[in-house]
Amino acid sequence: MGDTHPATVLAYHTRSKHAPDRYAAGPGTLDWDAQPEAFRDWVGANQTPLPREIAVAEIAWGELAAARAPLPFDTHNLGSLLRLCVGLTAWKEYAGSRWSLRAHPSSGNLHPTETWLVAAGITGLANGLYHYQNLHHALERHAWNDAPGDGGVWLGFSSIHWREAWKYGERAFRYCQLDMGHVLAAVSYAAALHGWQPRLLGMDAALVAHTLGLDRKHDFAGVESEEAEMILALHQTETALPGNWQHWAGKPGLLDAHPWYQWPVIEEVALATRGTPPASDRLPAVAMATDNHGTDIRAAQVLLKRRSAQAFDGQSVMPQAVFKRILAGLLPGGSPVWDVWTPPARVHPVLLVHRVEGITPGVYVMPRTGGAKDSLRTAFRDSFSWQAADTELPLFQLVAARAGKTARALSCHQDIAMQCAVTFLMVAEFAAPIAAAPAAYRHLHWEAGMLGHIITLEAEAAGWRGTGIGCFFDDAVHEVLGIKDDAFQVIYHYAIGMALDDPRISTLPAYQ
Ligand SMILES: Cc1cc2nc3c(=O)[nH]c(=O)nc-3n(C[C@H](O)[C@H](O)[C@H](O)COP(=O)(O)O)c2cc1C
Repeated sequence: MGDTHPATVLAYHTRSKHAPDRYAAGPGTLDWDAQPEAFRDWVGANQTPLPREIAVAEIAWGELAAARAPLPFDTHNLGSLLRLCVGLTAWKEYAGSRWSLRAHPSSGNLHPTETWLVAAGITGLANGLYHYQNLHHALERHAWNDAPGDGGVWLGFSSIHWREAWKYGERAFRYCQLDMGHVLAAVSYAAALHGWQPRLLGMDAALVAHTLGLDRKHDFAGVESEEAEMILALHQTETALPGNWQHWAGKPGLLDAHPWYQWPVIEEVALATRGTPPASDRLPAVAMATDNHGTDIRAAQVLLKRRSAQAFDGQSVMPQAVFKRILAGLLPGGSPVWDVWTPPARVHPVLLVHRVEGITPGVYVMPRTGGAKDSLRTAFRDSFSWQAADTELPLFQLVAARAGKTARALSCHQDIAMQCAVTFLMVAEFAAPIAAAPAAYRHLHWEAGMLGHIITLEAEAAGWRGTGIGCFFDDAVHEVLGIKDDAFQVIYHYAIGMALDDPRISTLPAYQ
């Protein structure tokens, strides 16, 4: 029998599409009081509080790309890194409700991603496997070996599907993967500030699960499982990753005592997409495109103040320099992300430009590789003009149009897609990568999430703001672009514009 996994993935993708007359299967009713716990405790594991100071507070956004000496691996610098990529950044309060925000966005603010740290030879930290507890900015020691092991630091990530599926039903697996992409990008930026260059390890999912203890069935009996995603090395030596832990402590807490629904298709697609992520190839970093916009603002401040806009003003015109800087970030060398994620680009932004200085409103595309330009041209509508729209960026105008209402209609009728300055539609090379390796389904979503994260941080640095849009009508987008089969599929939308803040919501510090 042939490999059925590609077919499972394509079937999942099709059934989890939203359409104007048929949303993907999700809960008919939601009991908001029954939302799963936002934070998982490892009950019985020893907790080590991490220092809260930001070690790199003074570096300006414009200096992000500059080479800098790596800071030593100690609890201060690791605490600083974790705060800047996966830590809490604020508490919000409105009408008696209180919720926290983190350095990376998450669909529905549900945060399915859990962070793990493996430490060996770190000053002030016993060797072992730790769960990062965002709520208290602390490490919970879950496993260790008797032998100290060679010095090194690794970050691991897992997804708790139920945190998303509870609200979003079958489409939730996609959101978990997009979130993972945001997290990977967030780590890349935070690490660059500390002079560290993370390397994604080409490790099979089963080994990632084993190293993080996620395959310990008895630990997870009766509680929500965690899906292994990836492990990154933060140090630059070839030190072997510790594993096969001899000692364990702590059990995962239950997040939802009364789950109302089950979405077995999520576990099916998770199983079908287990594989090996593309290892970072450790090429020397390419110099980033430089432009002095946002130079004065501190990079750590950008990472900590990042928020998703809940509304845009519908009128501000984005300066062309800001627009071009955002697009340059999506190309090789344009962001620290591309030192970590090094395979050829497979996700390409289509842009619905509503309000950008000097750019005719319309539909544009920026193929991120030379080859993609030809294949996108074959896949897209014949009537598109493919007029070069910039002398430096590979940006092409497909058609001049006021596309605000179209953007809103395609994005599940959400106003943010029309009121922003630009709506991005992330179009992925699809059927071929998935046929070659079904795990590509995850990796394409990671790549789209990374693009979203770069867009959002560059916008934030320049005083603008972004919002991810996971709710869109897949095939309606394909129809607009003329895509007739699954050689390409849209997998994420993103909006950037001038945010309108809601004065009724108050903000409190992340950690008192
Ligand atoms: C994958 C993904 C999909 C999202 N989809 C939507 C969306 O369809 N509509 C929307 O208003 N916000 C969307 N968001 C934004 C989240 O609601 C937001 O990140 C979350 O509430 C946390 O707020 P913060 O980003 O300000 O920290 C999405 C975010 C992500 C990462």
